[in-house]
Amino acid sequence: MSRLMRRSSIVTDAASVTEIVHAAMSNTVNPRLKEILNALVKHAHAFLNEAKLTDEEFEQGLDFIRQVGLTCTDSHNEVVLLADVLGFSTLVKVLNNSAHDERTGGALLGPFYRGGSPRYELGESIVQDDTPGSPIFVSGRILDTRREPICNAKVDVWQASPAGLYENQDPHQPEMNLRGHFLTDEHGVFNFRSIRPSGYPVPTHGPVGDLLRIQKRHPYRPAHLHFVVVADGYSTLISQIFADDAEYLDSDVVFGVTRDLVGQFERHEVGTGPHPGVKEPYYTLDCTFVLAKGDSTFPTPPIK
Ligand SMILES: [Fe+2]
Repeated sequence: MSRLMRRSSIVTDAASVTEIVHAAMSNTVNPRLKEILNALVKHAHAFLNEAKLTDEEFEQGLDFIRQVGLTCTDSHNEVVLLADVLGFSTLVKVLNNSAHDERTGGALLGPFYRGGSPRYELGESIVQDDTPGSPIFVSGRILDTRREPICNAKVDVWQASPAGLYENQDPHQPEMNLRGHFLTDEHGVFNFRSIRPSGYPVPTHGPVGDLLRIQKRHPYRPAHLHFVVVADGYSTLISQIFADDAEYLDSDVVFGVTRDLVGQFERHEVGTGPHPGVKEPYYTLDCTFVLAKGDSTFPTPPIK
């Protein structure tokens, strides 16, 4: 092949396609974007070479992606769900926020995070009505990697109900039920009251549900609380705390469970423990989040 031919966009064989696409993208101005797109094309082309898709399989794959997009609404994000069930979200989170430097490990944001949660004072409840469920008292501290408290950190929390539904999925729950944010005090402490969340199935009404059924995978997540912790000068922590006695703890459909994110949901009988006045058995959960120095950013909510 002549050098002139090689510089053109005329395809000669399978290998030339990859080379030509890389050349076509070579003027990408943003160097980081160029690096990402080059890696994407390199590995996606390698996948196509390995899998040797038929024309029909390629069309099916494209239509699947189209259906994933069409399934999205203001209150449901099928794209995030797909990234979650394929392990993409957890892999990105582990790569960016591993616990190797003593900070708390991250976990995927998930498809149910909403911006604009209510602000509560420390100790208040995030339960907005008489949603039935076992009381849980959550307390924790936000620390830096020297174990010094971070005051005025914003701790945004959200969870499913004992029925396994987030408020935006459930017409029986008030707007923003079981969602709220707090600011840590001078000791880095936050605490609040809620009801114990249940595990739940991820939404299976769309193409991601079809995928799980084809793969004979269950759709369940173990019971957990979601946290986003934001503090000036620190890398934002997106994480979850899982109940140590939860079903599906070792088979989370979105692969979110890491050892350091399993919390002890301690049960107390009436008249015992730190809240003896509670008139029914209740739980306590204590959790510490360690933040590393870095940029304070806020995640983009996947739903409104
Ligand atoms: Fe969740």
